[in-house]
Amino acid sequence: VTSLKGKDLLELGDCTSLEVSQLIELAVKLKKATKEGACPPLLEDKTLGMIFEKSSTRTRVSFEVAMNQLGGKSMYMNANDLQLGRGESISDTGHVLSGYLEGIMIRANSHEKVVELAKHASIPVINGLTDLAHPCQALADLETIYEVKGTFKGLKLAYIGDGNNVVHSLMNACAHVGMDLAIATPKGYEPNQDIMNEAKNIASANDCTILHTFEPIEAASNADIIYTDVWTSMGQEDECEKRLQDFKEFQINDALVAHAKSDYIFMHCLPAHREEEVTSSIIDSSHSVIYQQAENRLHAQKALLVSILAD
Ligand code: CP
Ligand code: NVA
Repeated sequence: VTSLKGKDLLELGDCTSLEVSQLIELAVKLKKATKEGACPPLLEDKTLGMIFEKSSTRTRVSFEVAMNQLGGKSMYMNANDLQLGRGESISDTGHVLSGYLEGIMIRANSHEKVVELAKHASIPVINGLTDLAHPCQALADLETIYEVKGTFKGLKLAYIGDGNNVVHSLMNACAHVGMDLAIATPKGYEPNQDIMNEAKNIASANDCTILHTFEPIEAASNADIIYTDVWTSMGQEDECEKRLQDFKEFQINDALVAHAKSDYIFMHCLPAHREEEVTSSIIDSSHSVIYQQAENRLHAQKALLVSILAD
């Protein structure tokens, strides 16, 4: 996707719908090539720095393996081990790292920090999750839906749970590919209104709808995809007890999925808390595509890295 060369990826709302579709096409191609043992070494001599302020399994490993398979290198940096953890500014960090690396992936507590880093780094910055957005996850989600359902048009995705980073990026993702999205959250846990308005604008250009409700059954009704995420995100641990109460009616269980289409698929970005946001009967059922979804982080990010970093 040549138009992404040298650019940052902070949130999917910054991409065009064409760029998002092309990324998914490229992800599918690179997955096939990888399975055939023929992943092209398009990132030889490139090093991606990966800064983490929060824990990660999928993002860390899939980015590292993606760089390896593309012939490049990656470097894991725990933010606390950098001078950043002792108060060095984000801007100095961005300037300095730009002299060593070809790109930076960062998982940060606050989205503003990532925006600030992108402003001061002369190399591309990729958002590996902030409090506001998780665009790399949404790209892998689209790839998975495309693989399983063969299309986006005419599908309804129901996201039931917290109005968090994951659903923010999912809103933009669905809007770009023309897939209907129904979001159900408890009162007080609605998605960010600005992101929702932005996504609605993209959706109306692509003939699809984004709807928010407080009724899980309304969202789940006739859905092709049922998606949820943890009720307590990283950094919200203090609110865990309250959230367990507030989200009780929003669990994905047998009664709720009975309202979805009979061939619905279940998705979750993982990590999951079984018996909280989803019962084992659903997440371990034949409807669940969670491991395919997790694997696709690797392939979707390869498409992204190649588009942004390759010569
Ligand atoms: N889904 C996701 O981003 O997982 P990690 O937190 O393990 O990276
Ligand atoms: N919403 C979750 C996603 C983890 C991948 C969190 O931010 O912790």
